[in-house]
Amino acid sequence: MAETQANDVLVSFRGVQKSYDGESLIVKDLNLDIRKGEFLTLLGPSGSGKTTSLMMLAGFETPTSGEILLAGRSINNVPPHKRDIGMVFQNYALFPHMTVAENLAFPLSVRGMSKTDVAERVKRALSMVQLDAFGGRYPAQLSGGQQQRVALARALVFEPQLVLMDEPLGALDKQLREHMQMEIKHIHQRLGVTVVYVTHDQGEALTMSDRVAVFHQGEIQQIAPPHELYEHPRNSFVANFIGENNRIAGQLHSLDGDRCTVSLARGEKVEALAVNVGQPGDSVSLSIRPERVRLNGHSESCANRFSGRVAEFIYLGDHVRIRLEVCGRTDFFVKQPIAELDPALSVGDVVPLGWAIEHVRALDPLPAA
Ligand SMILES: Nc1ncnc2c1ncn2[C@@H]1O[C@H](COP(=O)(O)OP(=O)(O)OP(=O)(O)O)[C@@H](O)[C@H]1O
Ligand SMILES: [Mg+2]
Repeated sequence: MAETQANDVLVSFRGVQKSYDGESLIVKDLNLDIRKGEFLTLLGPSGSGKTTSLMMLAGFETPTSGEILLAGRSINNVPPHKRDIGMVFQNYALFPHMTVAENLAFPLSVRGMSKTDVAERVKRALSMVQLDAFGGRYPAQLSGGQQQRVALARALVFEPQLVLMDEPLGALDKQLREHMQMEIKHIHQRLGVTVVYVTHDQGEALTMSDRVAVFHQGEIQQIAPPHELYEHPRNSFVANFIGENNRIAGQLHSLDGDRCTVSLARGEKVEALAVNVGQPGDSVSLSIRPERVRLNGHSESCANRFSGRVAEFIYLGDHVRIRLEVCGRTDFFVKQPIAELDPALSVGDVVPLGWAIEHVRALDPLPAA
């Protein structure tokens, strides 16, 4: 059993640390197994150590301690060009003096491939990113999205077992970015190549990945498939970083298995899932997704019932966000599909609302803002 699992792993970070100045650790004790064929995303705020981790895997940075294994072998002393890894970066420029076809041929020629094989591979790579007719153009004659597709093709053309992408779509506008997200995802599905992708865009991470590793201050906070990360965040950082979130500060009143009761500042009690809490008396923060809050009659079956004063409506086409004053907070949001919105609801109304125990998570307190 353990052996089968080991065979499924392509990359292992084992106790990897990185310091640039010999004092502060930018990456702290990174332990991570990346499976063969997996699309794994490193997601986290700026400065959390994503690029540093990727650079160590690529071989452009050396771990301060620990070990990185590729297909079971330590690569600590293997230079970048011998690691068989393709790379795409946000500003990884194409060679401007070479045509698109020459750019794609380059990684193959340096590997000593014959001219006919090169031509065949280049043709296939161009077709993969739907640029069949563009082989003769120079990079400057392409749009940003087309250039990024060539960069993608160049990273894949030598059929590496592993491709690293660091914010490859960061420079593109929203529409093109979303199109390229699907394109990269489909290429990944077709080729079965292992991808390690870096972004600080949570939507991008959730859309594209098999698993997402959430980074914060050089540590993985949680690693899980997108749905699990969204529905079952393990701590406040993840709950707040992924998706929208109502947070209410409170104190742990009592604990009973995986359930708990939390007292709010004004004395109200909330029954919640005990996810990451200490002892009774300790501070906690409650996390409730806006789409899980039920209004009016829909709240009758909820274990937690309160009332809220409607402060604002924000229309977003298919759904509406309603800002309410609830439990002393003025920024409590409820999200409703347009079709379910009570047309009579107006600013100033006081309405009953509620949420089920399984939709409120008691987590570690957030640092004071
Ligand atoms: N070559 C370097 N020398 C010194 N410090 C560095 C170097 N590269 C990165 N750092 C520092 O390490 C920390 C992590 O940087 P890193 O580039 O890994 O973050 P990141 O998660 O990729 O952030 P972003 O989302 O902004 O790209 C930052 O504080 C950064 O200033
Ligand atoms: Mg970075």
